[in-house]
Amino acid sequence: MSALFQPFTLKSITLRNRIAVPPMCQYSATDGLVGDWHLAHYASMARGGAGLVIVEATAVSPEGRITPGCAGIWSDDLAQAFKPIVQSIKAAGSVPGIQIGHAGRKASANRPWEGDDHIEENDARGWETIAPSAIAFGPGLKKQPRAMTLEDIARVRQDFVDAAKRARDIGFEWLELHFAHGYLAQSFFSAESNRREDIYGGSAENRGRFLLETLKSVREVWPENLPLTLRFGVLEFDGRDEQTLVESIELTRQFKSAGLDMLSVSIGFSTPAAKIPWGTAFMGPIAERVRREAGIPVSSAWGFGYPAVAEQTVRDEQLDVVMVGKAHLANPHWSYAAAKELGVERASWKLPAPYAHWLERY
Ligand SMILES: Cc1cc2nc3c(=O)[nH]c(=O)nc-3n(C[C@H](O)[C@H](O)[C@H](O)COP(=O)(O)O)c2cc1C
Repeated sequence: MSALFQPFTLKSITLRNRIAVPPMCQYSATDGLVGDWHLAHYASMARGGAGLVIVEATAVSPEGRITPGCAGIWSDDLAQAFKPIVQSIKAAGSVPGIQIGHAGRKASANRPWEGDDHIEENDARGWETIAPSAIAFGPGLKKQPRAMTLEDIARVRQDFVDAAKRARDIGFEWLELHFAHGYLAQSFFSAESNRREDIYGGSAENRGRFLLETLKSVREVWPENLPLTLRFGVLEFDGRDEQTLVESIELTRQFKSAGLDMLSVSIGFSTPAAKIPWGTAFMGPIAERVRREAGIPVSSAWGFGYPAVAEQTVRDEQLDVVMVGKAHLANPHWSYAAAKELGVERASWKLPAPYAHWLERY
């Protein structure tokens, strides 16, 4: 029996299998507004059989976008545009999730296929960036952010809360806070980017404060019966990984006490000096340690897009849910193809009948 194709229940939500499409920016919104491309993209991801589809990093404020093409949810009108996407994901038997975030010092950048670097200072398409401290990321992303005041911190925390309410009101059933990848929240946690001397900087406890406070505030408005998750870079691959991991696991225990239901274990991306050991399923053992030591269900991405690897990862109890990203872009029916390859009983696919009825022989 396949482990990957067992259902997974978190709070009142049951995924039809352990496969998730992770958030993947489409850089195709206009002033934050999602449109036809997003609907076509997310509908195809869901109908291919994944249990969970998490909509891309969606900015909680205009300045929180990574690029001018990033999706936003800072107004009710922007939120309404996600409704057909939510409905199409549900119609295909998948659970609709959304990742909300703020890009911090990595905001105001060009799209990946247009340079992936900061928009030039004198270009009207760009905007002021904010971060815990006035420290630029490095080559490519060299714009110096403005250090946030306490008022800025309170405002962004409230922006997360308002975004979560809007996501709730339009029917998303799974919320992921983007606390990873060198964006605003992660840059509070990283001592590399956070040199504050107030209660938001210094010790690990202080560097984790913005993250924990934001999670607690969101938990108050996000329904108790729906999963609240977050993506967090638990290490940087910068040579100080044991210490960072210990601090990250301690913070994850506090997240759990504050109502976090699951952690998406990822990488910090706080420094260009990182030496990441890219390879098939390389985050598996790290995620397993976080799962065991923090006592919380986990997911992870990066190189799990091979059916036998994904199956083994769940079987070995490294991950509860496997994120399969680029392989889904190459083949939106990745889950269905994985089921065939693993010899999974048709009854376990849980594809809608108009597909399931015919696909047995293909
Ligand atoms: C086009 C693209 C956009 C991405 N956008 C996001 C994002 O919005 N939020 C996020 O947390 N990760 C993002 N990522 C990272 C993916 O969620 C995932 O971690 C990564 O693709 C590695 O998994 P894979 O090897 O299965 O592709 C993106 C990746 C790609 C390829």
